[in-house]
Amino acid sequence: MALIDRHAIIERNATLLLVFSLLVVTIGGLVEIAPLFYLQNTIEKVEGMRPYSPLELAGRDIYVREGCYLCHSQMIRPFRDEVERYGHYSLAAESMYDHPFQWGSKRTGPDLARVGGRYSNEWHVQHLTDPRSVVPESVMPSYGFLKENALSIRDIANHLKANANVGVPYTDEDIANAKADLMAQADPNADTSGVVKRYPKAVVGDLDGDPQRVTEMDALVAYLQMLGTLVDFSKYDKVAGYR
Ligand code: HEC
Repeated sequence: MALIDRHAIIERNATLLLVFSLLVVTIGGLVEIAPLFYLQNTIEKVEGMRPYSPLELAGRDIYVREGCYLCHSQMIRPFRDEVERYGHYSLAAESMYDHPFQWGSKRTGPDLARVGGRYSNEWHVQHLTDPRSVVPESVMPSYGFLKENALSIRDIANHLKANANVGVPYTDEDIANAKADLMAQADPNADTSGVVKRYPKAVVGDLDGDPQRVTEMDALVAYLQMLGTLVDFSKYDKVAGYR
C-alpha cells in the first residue's frame, strides 16, 4: 500500500485524525516550549550592561514617582524613523535590570532611552526647573522642587538588596558600599574611584549645580545622563538601512 493511501485511512477516520493531530501538536509543543524551562535567561547578554549605581537607582525611583513614563517612553523600536531620531533600537538586555521596566506606551514627549550624554547637566537642571525656558513650545510640567528636596538615602542599601532578590547582580560589596557610592557620585570633591570601578560610565560630580547637598535633582540627572550609554554600539554589526 502506497504511503498516500495509508494517509487516506487517517483522513477518512475522524477519531484517528484527531488522535494523530494531537500527537503532532504535542510533539511540536514540546520541542518549542520545553527548552525554555531549561534556559537561565532568554535575554542575550550584552557587553557593557551593568546594574544601576545607587544614585541612578534613586533617580529612577523619582522618575517613576513623578510619572515621567506617562509622557515618555524608553524603548526605541527598530523602525527607520525612530532609529534616525533616537539612535540604535533598544535591546532587551538594556532593560534587563529594570524593575519595573519603563518602556511606556505614550509619547507626549520624546523617547528617553538614549537621552544620556545628549545634553549637559546644566541643561537638564534648567529644563526640569523651567522647561519653557529652553523649549518655548514645551508642555512638560516644571519639576524645580526636586532641587529643593534633599534625597532620602536611608533605604538605599535595602533597595539594592531588594533588586538583588529579583535577580539584579548586586554583590555584597555593592550593597555594603551603597550609601558611600551614592554620596561620592554626587560630590565633586569625593574620591570616585570606587563608584566608577563598580559602575563603569557613571556620571560623577555636581549634577544639580549645588555641590553642598545631594538632592532629588542630583539623582534624577544622574539617571537621565546614563540612559542608553552603557552599550557601545560601534562594536555591533551595522544593520543595513539603520545607522
Ligand atoms: C505632560 C507630559 C510630560 C511629563 C509628565 C514629563 N515630560 Fe519630559 N517632555 C515632555 C515634552 C512635550 C517634551 C518635549 C519638549 C521639551 O523638550 O520640553 C519633553 C522633553 C523632555 C526631555 C528632553 C528630551 C530630548 O530628547 O530632547 C527630557 C530629558 C525630559 N522631558 C525628562 C522628563 C522627566 C525626567 C520627567 C519626569 C520628572 C518628564 N520629562 C515628565 C512632556 C512631559
